[in-house]
Amino acid sequence: MTEKWWHDKIAYQIYPKSFLDSNGDGIGDLRGIISKLDYIKALGIDIIWLSPIYKSPFVDQGYDISDYYAIAEEFGTMEEFDELLAEAKKRNMHIIMDLVINHCSDQHEWFRKALADPDGEYADYFYFREGKNGNPPSNYRSYFGGSCWEPVPGTDKYYLHMFAKEQPDLNWENPILRQKLFDMVNWWLEKGLAGFRIDAIMNIKKDLDFPDFGPDGPDGLSGCWRMIESVDGIGELLDDLKKNTFEKYEAFTVAEAFNLNKSELNKFIGENGYFSTIFDFSAQCLSDGKHGWYDSPDITFKKWRETIINSQLDVQKVGFEANIIENHDEPRGVSRFLPEYARNADGTKMLGTISVLLRGIPFIYQGQEIGMQNAIWKSVDEFNDINTIDQYYIARKAGLNNKDALAACCKMSRDNARTPMQWDGSEKAGFTDGEPWIKINPNCKEINAASQLDDLDSIFHYYQKLIALRKEKDIIVYGEFEPLCREDDQIFAYMRKLDEERLLTVCNFSEQSAEFEVPAEFEGSQCLITNLDRKVFKGKIVLKPYEAFVLYK
Ligand code: NOJ
Repeated sequence: MTEKWWHDKIAYQIYPKSFLDSNGDGIGDLRGIISKLDYIKALGIDIIWLSPIYKSPFVDQGYDISDYYAIAEEFGTMEEFDELLAEAKKRNMHIIMDLVINHCSDQHEWFRKALADPDGEYADYFYFREGKNGNPPSNYRSYFGGSCWEPVPGTDKYYLHMFAKEQPDLNWENPILRQKLFDMVNWWLEKGLAGFRIDAIMNIKKDLDFPDFGPDGPDGLSGCWRMIESVDGIGELLDDLKKNTFEKYEAFTVAEAFNLNKSELNKFIGENGYFSTIFDFSAQCLSDGKHGWYDSPDITFKKWRETIINSQLDVQKVGFEANIIENHDEPRGVSRFLPEYARNADGTKMLGTISVLLRGIPFIYQGQEIGMQNAIWKSVDEFNDINTIDQYYIARKAGLNNKDALAACCKMSRDNARTPMQWDGSEKAGFTDGEPWIKINPNCKEINAASQLDDLDSIFHYYQKLIALRKEKDIIVYGEFEPLCREDDQIFAYMRKLDEERLLTVCNFSEQSAEFEVPAEFEGSQCLITNLDRKVFKGKIVLKPYEAFVLYK
């Protein structure tokens, strides 16, 4: 495998709206981010991913872009963005931005022009199609609920949107549009961006016949992903994108690629893959409900462990995936993957140990490094997220009462990750002097960066150590992954191997003590990190609940 500049890097995702507000308007901003670069650097981060900061009406929190060349006023100015790039560079950190090119905003000038002339040039930047017998062209349900087709006013046509109706899909079959997107990507790369996180990219290839699929819900519609999964030919589009943009700059690209066929992994992240890496969402997908969040299954420890193991084994044959515990679309990992009894500092450190030392590029989501947790939501009115509100009504329509529908949203809402970063224990968590755009988790009194920075035994400092280890030891970057005790009810353990070196990670995920036989080859080895204070690692040992340790020889 050819070494790449990003192989040994660690990334940190910033959700700008919730990171740090510097001007008291209740919304995080670029100035806030600049002021915390030293904090991020201290954690050991090399790459910062900014969720969208482009101009946007924020129907989907910036994933609806109305101008790809402008910074949202709420966040600051282009000059501030340039300053951020320069300040990051000074600290030897790279910035990547979100690249949202499956769709834009209905406020983008391309779409406005398309609506103004539905038979004109710009209409072909989108999918404008005639309806069928007074109905939309096909029976697709959008990811955010309702039909994927919205009427084009004053015509008998509809336009396609896989997400909200304010996010019309861009027509990737149109070479003029593709070129405009490539030019835009290159413009940002020329500015000094190190790469992109690429949004919803599997959706760019459509079946242009837009066939109906069998209904899969009481609304008579069929999830639009069925069409996406059934169509071939995305490879040509992705190859074109890569050759015309990323490749020329050695950009680091991480794609959001759901529903990828394992046999295709090599084309996506192999030596000459379309992307540097893609996120491993396999553990997150375990909570996919058949009909929505209301029937989302609980994740059992064994299923979760097996899912991660399988994914590691598949991917290492091919390349690197990007490992996450949480992101801006997912509930907090501590609340999701740890049983209630383990949602404390030691349990949180254990979860971090398992995740950061896996093979792959670790992505830490803002607040994960201090162990932020889901908020407690008392009413559906407290949510801001378009997806959560849709899921609430799906649950109600399926017959759930308010309390149960709310409970489903509390468990799964994307807003769990979007509550403001907890900088300190004050009323507004040090996030803003004004009214925060979304509620602050009151547990900031106990979980906050200020107190953890002062405490060498904190979750922050533990993450800092894990990250430093990954930089010191090539085995954590390149070592082969080998699972251990796959049938055990309590322990998650794996080995990493690189030539003669060995690394052993062992965690007890249960509330009871657990026995573990330290392999003889680790006798006399060095303990690199542990969340408790065990000193001897020899023969049969008994791990305390949520104990984690890592041995190296
Ligand atoms: C995935 C993004 O992560 C999510 O936040 C967004 O709503 C959709 N793509 C649509 O862009």
